[in-house]
Amino acid sequence: MSGKAISFARGAPSLDIVDIEGLKAASQAAFEQDPAGLTGYGTSVGYLPLRQWLADKHGVAPENVIVTNGSMQADAFLFDALVSAGDAVIVELPTYDRTLLSLRGRGADVRMVELESDGIDVAGLERLLVTGLRPTLAHIIPNFQNPAGYTLSLPKRKRLLELSREYGFVVFEDDPYVELRFSGESLPTMLSMDPESVVYASSFSKTVAPGIRVGYLVGPREVIAKIEQLATGTYISPNMVAQGIVNQFARSGQIQKSIETVKSALHERATTLSQALRRELPDARFETPEGGYFMWVELPKGTDVNALFAAAAERNVQFVKGTDFVLDGYESSLRLAYSGVTPAEIEEGIGRLAEAYREVTAGVPA
Ligand SMILES: Cc1ncc(COP(=O)(O)O)c(C=O)c1O
Repeated sequence: MSGKAISFARGAPSLDIVDIEGLKAASQAAFEQDPAGLTGYGTSVGYLPLRQWLADKHGVAPENVIVTNGSMQADAFLFDALVSAGDAVIVELPTYDRTLLSLRGRGADVRMVELESDGIDVAGLERLLVTGLRPTLAHIIPNFQNPAGYTLSLPKRKRLLELSREYGFVVFEDDPYVELRFSGESLPTMLSMDPESVVYASSFSKTVAPGIRVGYLVGPREVIAKIEQLATGTYISPNMVAQGIVNQFARSGQIQKSIETVKSALHERATTLSQALRRELPDARFETPEGGYFMWVELPKGTDVNALFAAAAERNVQFVKGTDFVLDGYESSLRLAYSGVTPAEIEEGIGRLAEAYREVTAGVPA
């Protein structure tokens, strides 16, 4: 095993970009200002001041918002509320592995539609709809997609909403990375473009810290009311202490400082990663992301990602295989998360990955 472990696998921040001092201060202030609110059961819709802050942020009424323990919990509630076994559900190809597992676990008829570098292939989706497919919902990660790092363009956002109205499916806009744009122009959320057709999820995992476990949903009142029932039956109420801290962190403006720290680190890491790949692994095809945590790398057809994974592990380097984000295929792709590695680790890690690549491709005809 060569050197210290370097992980491009986890979609999580390194500790140096988590605002520990800011969180300690927010925690102290939250307990001082509202001890009863933080220590009581609270309500199933979440800590009310935070729910209000989120409603204001998205320009909706509080009744359109429910706060949950991480957005994974929001996703699970939404699928419980809207997806039955056998229902067709559209997801991107490739997509977030946990969503894929969650939908398959519910017996959904998962239909993957190709993800292009400007987002889901809306023409491909339309062909499925025209030939009779009637999905319940389409799960879309619009900004800096997990795993690909791609962003859905404005024309495609508009077209997707038109299709959702025409064919009567919900657009589930899963948007935890939206605040982490470090280059290029921000785009409006689909929620802001058509609040009736969209259920929106986001999270404080990527802007505050994943361990805080605070996420939320915004959607039509009847959907949120249904989820409120599920939340009550599941846990009475989500974690009020964590939400009280996030509320304080958000309202004091400290969150903006935290986002700036995270964004500038991610920018530097994404740039370092692109440069290292170009230099060390010129066979790799990728787009440099404009935000978020992830870069998708395609290696020449025929490269065996399982063999690369094993050869990289021998050199103490981890990544996630492309095959984990699809139902089949993608044997020559991988996801590199640059959120948890410093620039020096990126340089070292890509050097080792390139060595692993040379080993597994030695003797393979070009
Ligand atoms: C697209 C997407 N949705 C949801 C989540 C889950 O986020 P949370 O930590 O809020 O549960 C992630 C985390 O990696 C993600 O990438």
